[in-house]
Amino acid sequence: MKFLPQLLSLALLTSCLTMTSCSSKKENESDDQKPGIEKTTYGQLPDGQTADLYTLRNAAGMTAQITNYGGIIVGLKTPDKDGKFEDVTLGQDSLSSYVKNNPYFGALIGRYGNRIAKGKFTLDGKTYDLFINNMGNHLHGGKVGFDKVLWTATPVEGDEPALKLAYTAKDGEEGYPGNLSVEVTYTLQKDNALKIDYKATTDKPTVVNLTNHTYFNLTGGAKRDILDHVVTLNADKLIAVDQTLIPTGELKPVAGTPFDFLKPSVVGSRINDSTDTQIKYGGGYDHGWVLNGSGDSLKLAATVYEPTSGRVMEVRTTEPAIQFYTGNFLDGSVTGREGFPYKKRYALCLETEHYPDSPNHPAFPTTELKPGQTYKSTTIYQFSTKK
Ligand code: GLA
Repeated sequence: MKFLPQLLSLALLTSCLTMTSCSSKKENESDDQKPGIEKTTYGQLPDGQTADLYTLRNAAGMTAQITNYGGIIVGLKTPDKDGKFEDVTLGQDSLSSYVKNNPYFGALIGRYGNRIAKGKFTLDGKTYDLFINNMGNHLHGGKVGFDKVLWTATPVEGDEPALKLAYTAKDGEEGYPGNLSVEVTYTLQKDNALKIDYKATTDKPTVVNLTNHTYFNLTGGAKRDILDHVVTLNADKLIAVDQTLIPTGELKPVAGTPFDFLKPSVVGSRINDSTDTQIKYGGGYDHGWVLNGSGDSLKLAATVYEPTSGRVMEVRTTEPAIQFYTGNFLDGSVTGREGFPYKKRYALCLETEHYPDSPNHPAFPTTELKPGQTYKSTTIYQFSTKK
């Protein structure tokens, strides 16, 4: 009996060797499995807490793997035009790699997505000091942002499986005022869309700007950089920035600039146009675009198409802006799950959010949240293909 597992794996290996379909079955492994959500242990954090890994699967075979450490999307497998499932995100190979050094791959970002100038803002006459972690500014929630904390997870079974994540940031955490109770729900829809719903309440006036920082590469398995991806952004205006990527306050029309993505445009065609000051400051694209259309309803913000795989991703959001970042800071120092270094521009991020540094720009849509109010936001990343 002791040898049963070995015998079983030997039998499996033999059948794999004799069945030609075995390896292709593995690529499309999600095909014949039922929709639902599965939990496994992901690993132990340095403080001894255990992080779990949840695999959400829909009837079409799409899977999303999410850990409650940082709410990180560890993997997202979608079919290409021939039905081959591959990962369309950058990710690491283990929990310890994420803990050691993660340039926000897949992570939830908060309490404030993107930058706050000099880590300072004033609310109701009181000035707050935040952790400085980026060119003299505060970025993505500080030293230990929402991407580095353990969230409480509740799996929700169904044809459209969901994972509810909850975290309460303490009054004073990273310098922000107010106990902030946050709930983020990832839902894998039947139509190959991953929906992210954000909710938050506070017990003192505070500022909130939540987003997700997934790095996408629609080639599948990050085969090469994203310069051939074709992007459309439903935005007439750019949130112009200074050298440290802090908004100047100017909302600049994109027409006639490398930032005009109103029509489908190849990412690499204008990305190195150093005659454009904004391109120079961003080292490529690392800017917020003001989305066309007003109000809180879901609107199409961006479409990405990758010609070789035929994959298409549409981004819909209730947020007023989108940060389009082309992985300019990736330098090969992080080796991802693909087993090779992720180099410059090996992915693009489409972070739906309010404008960066809004607390210091009264003219921008407000990011203040008061007791009694509920912060609500939804973003949907939907995948399809075209030949
Ligand atoms: C955002 C910022 C970038 C960079 C990345 C993470 O997109 O705007 O400048 O910090 O996150 O590296």
